[in-house]
Amino acid sequence: MNLGGPSSMEPGASCEGCPRSLLGEDRFYALRAHVDARVPAGVVRRLLPGPAPSEVEVDEAKRNTLKLVAIGGAVALGTGGLASFLRFAVPPPAGSSTYPKVQLLYDDGTPVLVSKYRHSASDNALIVFNYPLSDEPNMLIQLPNSAPGGVGPSQSLVAFSAICQHLGCAPPYISYYPAGTCPSFNGGKAFIHCVCHGSSYDPSSSASGGGAVILSGPTQSPLPQVTLMWDQTTDYLYAVGVVGPPVKGHTSTLVGGTAVTSPVQTAPPQTPTQQCPT
Ligand code: FES
Repeated sequence: MNLGGPSSMEPGASCEGCPRSLLGEDRFYALRAHVDARVPAGVVRRLLPGPAPSEVEVDEAKRNTLKLVAIGGAVALGTGGLASFLRFAVPPPAGSSTYPKVQLLYDDGTPVLVSKYRHSASDNALIVFNYPLSDEPNMLIQLPNSAPGGVGPSQSLVAFSAICQHLGCAPPYISYYPAGTCPSFNGGKAFIHCVCHGSSYDPSSSASGGGAVILSGPTQSPLPQVTLMWDQTTDYLYAVGVVGPPVKGHTSTLVGGTAVTSPVQTAPPQTPTQQCPT
């Protein structure tokens, strides 16, 4: 297990492949877009870290934005219509009005069968799928015991947002730590931890209003939980909603991107970057 991580780095420091808090906003979102492009909507998989887009790509995006603003300004001056300029320059947020019901598949395209889930409670493999938007990763976790919102024979299969509620670090920096991984933290029980700045969440307990309870800061918001549904006649697994606060970076978990369509595949299993909390 890799117990190294970027937690000792100063925010804003140059760090190829590091998350938003270590890269700055432009490079973080460019990296997110780069990673998302490798993960088709509707598939459960683990993500592998890859090279960030070049500065040239980022600069090009900035140039295109300035072009849009300049053209929109010209339109506004020509027509005297500020409202039309704003509609041109600020696209309406995309998303969905309701949570879709999507079946979850493994990265090889076969259905996830709940009673035969491939990853045990002692496996720290990072299994990620996008929901409800195509750029919003969640982690699918088999816990050792029943938990709020858990499905399956032991009511222990759960899913949580894989975007940290502090500053938005994503996999592999936020991940599931099986029981016994860090004996001196959380009584040795399983937890979710983000190595960017040390926020931790308890996937076995539900906060008031939903989401995983905070075990350690700096986050001040519980981790949103995906509502799962188990069809016992087929053993298939579905994602049908999200409870808890909005996913970090969104005013609503349903708004700000493109809604996934069924089925959704997980990413290939990924080895997370892990470091026990101190
Ligand atoms: Fe700061 Fe996760 S982004 S702790």
